[in-house]
Amino acid sequence: MIEGKNSIVLPIVGGIIALSVIFSVMLLWSGKLNDNDTSAKGHPNLGDDFTLQSAAGPVSLSDYRGKVVVLYFGYAFCPDVCPTSLGLLSLAFNKLSQDELNDVQAFFISVDPERDTVEKLEKYVGVFHPSIMGITGTPEEIAEVARIYGAIYMKVELPGSALGYSVDHSSRYYLIDREGVARELIPHGTSPEDIVVSLREVLNIQE
Ligand code: NI
Repeated sequence: MIEGKNSIVLPIVGGIIALSVIFSVMLLWSGKLNDNDTSAKGHPNLGDDFTLQSAAGPVSLSDYRGKVVVLYFGYAFCPDVCPTSLGLLSLAFNKLSQDELNDVQAFFISVDPERDTVEKLEKYVGVFHPSIMGITGTPEEIAEVARIYGAIYMKVELPGSALGYSVDHSSRYYLIDREGVARELIPHGTSPEDIVVSLREVLNIQE
């Protein structure tokens, strides 16, 4: 009798424990961004408001309701990843009509506040496209915005280099619609043509 009960109860208890573990792991990872993620769905923090500083003063994401916003995390001393990404984004912007371009604003969020002053950022992004604005903040403010958007960055010391250090960072564009809802994540290395397709998809969302 007792053995019979155990043979039924134990597998059920074991099953419940296993399911709880799987569920907890899923919960833990549900907010994390995967390199292959292209949709903002399932990442409720994306699109959350923040305020950082530009050369022209404070900038909040919520100031740009009505426009499609592109966010990118990087830093001005970046030797290759950021110039490539900003270059591809600029080429994409140049393929938009003037009307479309008027409805788009990109922000380059510096994860290197130690070296990237707002003046330096303004000059840096100005080389690429007038629709890109450089913004930054205190290390704590940047850490918080990066946390919200699942962006990763890490200072890497470069002994013997004139640069002193580099900053490894994740590279993707976040597309936020006119209502402030994050819609798409565009992976690093996407062609200007494909960036334009994504920009137009988000530009054409009518609430
Ligand atoms: Ni970079």
